[in-house]
Amino acid sequence: TKRITTHTLHEMKARGEKISMLTSYDYSMAKIVDKAGIDIILVGDSASNVMAGHETTLPITLDQMIYHASSVVRAIEHCLVVVDLPFGTYQGNSKEALSSAIRIMKESGAHAVKLEGGSEILESISRILSAGIPVMGHLGLTPQSIYKFGTYVVRAKEEEEAKKLIEDAKLLEEAGCFSIVLEKIPAKLAQLVSESVSIPIIGIGAGNGVDGQVLVIHDLLGITNEFNPRFIRRYNNLYEQIEHSVLSYIKDVKSKDFPNENEQY
Ligand code: KIV
Ligand code: NA
Repeated sequence: TKRITTHTLHEMKARGEKISMLTSYDYSMAKIVDKAGIDIILVGDSASNVMAGHETTLPITLDQMIYHASSVVRAIEHCLVVVDLPFGTYQGNSKEALSSAIRIMKESGAHAVKLEGGSEILESISRILSAGIPVMGHLGLTPQSIYKFGTYVVRAKEEEEAKKLIEDAKLLEEAGCFSIVLEKIPAKLAQLVSESVSIPIIGIGAGNGVDGQVLVIHDLLGITNEFNPRFIRRYNNLYEQIEHSVLSYIKDVKSKDFPNENEQY
């Protein structure tokens, strides 16, 4: 099958075909996800939570994101790979933002970057775009700002924040972003944003009126089992399955059942 590009995604929105996106952070997982036919893999800074065990996305570094992204890129043949610029690598000034984006593109081979925020970071986004690097926006609940929000509740329920969100989405489109992620906002507002711009809107906890959906793969597979917001659909219970497998292995080792005669030289 043909490789997905930012152009492909634009066409998909135009003809009403929904876009599928999932996170991956390593080679083995990305191989399965790409072969299954996903449109976009996001190397999310959620790696900070699910891979490294941090409470927030703030601690992950640019070098660590590049490690995850390069592992994913080596696995894929078909999908578009988008990489999060981690906290602290683009907010300072637009030159710093561009050099962070360039490092990701050069050192991982990924196809695009994602940044959290609207008008506040417009100059950084424009500078990255002017270097020919595709940018995905991210509005609504932006986890790198968790200490400003103070809570992970739904964003933009009030009119003022909703208005700014729509304005930000239009600004990002005008600047040249190829797509925007909307996280944890009312479904009605997300649909309104999707209808207000021509670039694809990918939702997470943003309802069904958008142009595509994204989930963290660990949530979808049920590897994480303590994080339970209503926007997750679990397609498996891998936590229990992995636990059961490990318990069985331990039992077989202790009982000297493993390895048996056929499993040795
Ligand atoms: O880091 C991440 O996984 C994300 C998605 C939830 C959109 O940014
Ligand atoms: Na992220």
